Amino acid sequence: MDGHIIASEARQLATIEERVFGVLDTIRRARRVQASVASRASPSISTARHSRPVTGLLFADDHLLMTTTPIIALDVSTAQDALELVDYFGDQCRFYKVGNELFTIAGPAIVRELRARDRDVFLDLKFHDIPNTVAGGVRNAAALGVRLVTVHAAGGSAMLDAAVEAAGDWCGVLAVTLLTSLDGAEVARAWGRTDPLDVGAEVLRLAELAVKAGAHGVVCSGREAASVRNRFADHLAILVPGVRASSGPANDQARVVTPKEAAESGATYVVIGRMVTGAADRRAALDSVLSALA
Ligand code: C5P
Repeated sequence: MDGHIIASEARQLATIEERVFGVLDTIRRARRVQASVASRASPSISTARHSRPVTGLLFADDHLLMTTTPIIALDVSTAQDALELVDYFGDQCRFYKVGNELFTIAGPAIVRELRARDRDVFLDLKFHDIPNTVAGGVRNAAALGVRLVTVHAAGGSAMLDAAVEAAGDWCGVLAVTLLTSLDGAEVARAWGRTDPLDVGAEVLRLAELAVKAGAHGVVCSGREAASVRNRFADHLAILVPGVRASSGPANDQARVVTPKEAAESGATYVVIGRMVTGAADRRAALDSVLSALA
């Protein structure tokens, strides 16, 4: 192709890029104003000690643009297997979950490796302990450069407050409401109740604790995500695990949704595990997730 044409196309692209960034900036500013007005209008949120709208966090841009960010779960037992997956997916995915399986074998070093590869890390260790101990764990996770960290909402307000305080501004605390592997009857059995639990109501109750502590968001299944989004609007990011193709096996998960359902219910993030990492063609499986989220 002629050099002049290439140069002129490059200039046109740069102009378009500038305009797109301008529009995105306007959307961001508008959403921040909207969130701060909403936070003043809602007493249960504005009285929270550390309350801040989700939009106040640096990494809320995806949410501002109303997109759902996929996070691939590196549920493998060696650092090498984990990094092979990351290299395999390349630019298809920039956000990875390190959970109990990988962290207990590969430790903080795997988080540093991922950060060195410019990948965002969701450290899903689901802390549930006394406030001082949880604060120490969250502080160390934040210092490692972790973007998202989980604690159990059932740890209580003091624990959530301590976690949020320890996380600082870079790392977001997500409060796990009810594990997606549980249904109402199973939770009732675990908690010694005679009637099955109303999962939807319980998730909202726990989400309220998270909002009051100023947590970045909650973890819940896609089945409750829409009611959490309706109730708390932009004050909570929502991370949805338990994502499955409509024809795929649920495995040990009880409350599953498809990627499209998760996105439509208002999920900020979806955790993609075996549906992609266990597929015969992992790249094609991820492609189908990405097009369902688009
Ligand atoms: O393979 P699968 O899609 O079931 O993986 C789900 C991932 O999401 C796992 O890494 C699991 O630990 C995580 N997760 C979950 N339920 C939660 C929080 C996290 O399944 N409540």
